[in-house]
Amino acid sequence: MKKVTTSTLLKMKQQSEKISALTAYDASFSKLFDEQGIDVLLIGDSLGMVLQGCDDTLGVSIDDVAYHTRAVRKGVERAFVIADMPFMSYSTPEQTYLNAAKLMAAGASMVKLEGGRWLLESIKGLNERGVPVCGHLGLTPQSVHVFGGFKVQGRDDLQAEQMLEQAKEMAAAGIQLLVLECVPTELAGAISQAVDIPVIGIGAGAETDGQILVMHDMFGISANYMPKFSKNYLQETGDMRTAVSQYIEEVKDGSFPSEAHSFSK
Ligand code: KIV
Repeated sequence: MKKVTTSTLLKMKQQSEKISALTAYDASFSKLFDEQGIDVLLIGDSLGMVLQGCDDTLGVSIDDVAYHTRAVRKGVERAFVIADMPFMSYSTPEQTYLNAAKLMAAGASMVKLEGGRWLLESIKGLNERGVPVCGHLGLTPQSVHVFGGFKVQGRDDLQAEQMLEQAKEMAAAGIQLLVLECVPTELAGAISQAVDIPVIGIGAGAETDGQILVMHDMFGISANYMPKFSKNYLQETGDMRTAVSQYIEEVKDGSFPSEAHSFSK
């Protein structure tokens, strides 16, 4: 079994093979997802909402993410493992390096940071120190109070232009993957075409290079609510393994997300 690496993900984009991704927080689920053939697993700070029952992700600590990263890593043989840097754990480049080191030591192969231009120095510094970086633009949940709620981003032309520019700058600074969350399909497609790195969408339409869902949303068991962009695969299939393989199949053949799971301008 060949392990998925940053080179694999880049090749998948170049060969127009869609990348399938899910969040995971423990060894049992990461093993199940890995066995079904998921390409990427993210230890998301969404754990604050789906595991800890909070209204947002702001209370998650670096130790929380490191703890779950250690558990996820134990279940994985093939998938590429990314860990989220939580709120205020990457405010300065120095703080970023120290906290990223904790996640890499816990078993991550890449760290994910939310935000745009202000992260360029940290992205370069992480790369120079051997840490691959995933960017995250659009609805970045750690900024929920700045946005005034969990809202689609990039609907107006100026915001869309800024997002596109920031994606290009971050790619030039060295990110090797980009997550776009809750962005109109057309903008997500334009960003995916404008950068050479793979772009993975969540609520960003079918024109990105891959898709990610929070595992609890994909199983329809989230404590709080079911986002419009997600789909309950467990309800459709009746068992967890088939739910995961159907999700992967629909990502690969481009049938998920449909328009019903996407946002327009
Ligand atoms: O925290 C998370 O699970 C995420 C995904 C929604 C991409 O960042």
